[in-house]
Amino acid sequence: MNIGVDIEEVKRFKKYVNNKKYLEHIFAKEEISYSFLKKNTAQHLAARFAAKEAVWKALSTKNKNLSITDISVKNTKEGKPQVYVKNKKYKKIDVSLSHTEKYVAAVALVF
Ligand SMILES: CC(C)(COP(=O)(O)OP(=O)(O)OC[C@H]1O[C@@H](n2cnc3c(N)ncnc32)[C@H](O)[C@@H]1OP(=O)(O)O)[C@@H](O)C(=O)NCCC(=O)NCCS
Repeated sequence: MNIGVDIEEVKRFKKYVNNKKYLEHIFAKEEISYSFLKKNTAQHLAARFAAKEAVWKALSTKNKNLSITDISVKNTKEGKPQVYVKNKKYKKIDVSLSHTEKYVAAVALVF
């Protein structure tokens, strides 16, 4: 079993909200559209970035060539985030996200 964790400051992502080029470089289309449906877009973008880093940490011993842009999350209809690696659902990993006004956190567990 492997675990990964990440925390991010929301303010870092506020400046990227209007930077389409940056967003499309880092985030999957679904991550961008999900975040823009929400009132606090920067918070949800930050949470998705934290998820990528936490998943990367959890998978780093297994997959040395993984880039954080290979990792994305898509929420189920119940709201639970699910991990995709290179656009394929990665079933053996779980990720959990949480946000406050200033910070977001993500924990990933590979089993
Ligand atoms: C889902 C819930 C736990 C989120 O908690 P929260 O404190 O509002 O918000 P947090 O910032 O900690 O977490 C938000 C993240 O939870 C995750 N989440 C949402 N629904 C989820 C679910 N069904 N399963 C797992 N994770 C979920 C999402 O990743 C979300 O972030 P995202 O929208 O950026 O993807 C909460 O909204 C909820 O519905 N609780 C159950 C209802 C309940 O029992 N309420 C108590 C009434 S007294």
